[in-house]
Amino acid sequence: MQDLLGLEGLSAKDIAELLDLGQALSEILSRPIKKVPTLRGRAVANVFFEPSTRTRNSFELAGKYLSADVINFQGSGSSVEKGETVWDTADNLQAMGIDVVVVRHRLSGVPKRLADMLTIPVINAGDGTHEHPTQGLLDLLTARQVHGRIEGLKVAIVGDILHSRVARSDMWGFLAMGADVTFVGPPNLLPGTLVGMGVHITSDLREGIEGADVIQALRIQRERQSAGEIPSLKEYRDRWGITEDSLRWAKDEVLVMHPGPQNRGVEIDSAVLDGPHCRVLQQVQNGVAIRMAVLYRLLGGGTHE
Ligand code: CP
Repeated sequence: MQDLLGLEGLSAKDIAELLDLGQALSEILSRPIKKVPTLRGRAVANVFFEPSTRTRNSFELAGKYLSADVINFQGSGSSVEKGETVWDTADNLQAMGIDVVVVRHRLSGVPKRLADMLTIPVINAGDGTHEHPTQGLLDLLTARQVHGRIEGLKVAIVGDILHSRVARSDMWGFLAMGADVTFVGPPNLLPGTLVGMGVHITSDLREGIEGADVIQALRIQRERQSAGEIPSLKEYRDRWGITEDSLRWAKDEVLVMHPGPQNRGVEIDSAVLDGPHCRVLQQVQNGVAIRMAVLYRLLGGGTHE
């Protein structure tokens, strides 16, 4: 693996190896001193052209826990504001001696183009509506920790599928690992391009989450309401919200996940988010472990001490 641009095309073996490595490295997070020398002398550039709380900070911590030097570049406040392109920016960072680029951009395909032009590995931290592979991996790890397996799980991904890069990475990852995947959401937010990809698609929440082992609730993008793409937030919650009532359709031991940030009381109620089925903070913790695993794998780390 030279880069991590998406989960599409990765085999079950590739994914299982990353999950196993993430699981092993997660042990570092429970140590009083969370630092191993694995990536000492290596430099990581977090290059974010979109806002982020979880992904950017967990990549920063992941790099630092592995003893890498980490720089955080944000479009605002940089020479991008004077007209410098993404490509020239990346060339300049590479010239400074960085060893890996972690990039988030609003346009699908930017990480791929960077991977084609740079000689160092590129990690996609979320590009447009394409993929968010480390989110997919941390979701898989959380599901495996809770259920002890991924194969055969019934996974429902609920919400704005059309605009969600998380939905796509989850889809590729869960399908590769042998899970059964259903997308649920308003009809206009369920892209027809998903037909034939091996997933079930429905606008009926009950049908979609009946008997589910895993529910991934996606953020509804409020700006889409003003654009007329979703009904009122109340109607959205009534039809597609994950509430204590709708959760009864899933299995008793259902795992509820959400990639964050959440709109409480819209796509998911606080009673569910703060309840016994939901593991969003376990997802966040796994995000650090998975990002350590990806950095370790791409930088060919030495021994894990
Ligand atoms: N899940 C996720 O990508 O969150 P951030 O936008 O905060 O990074």
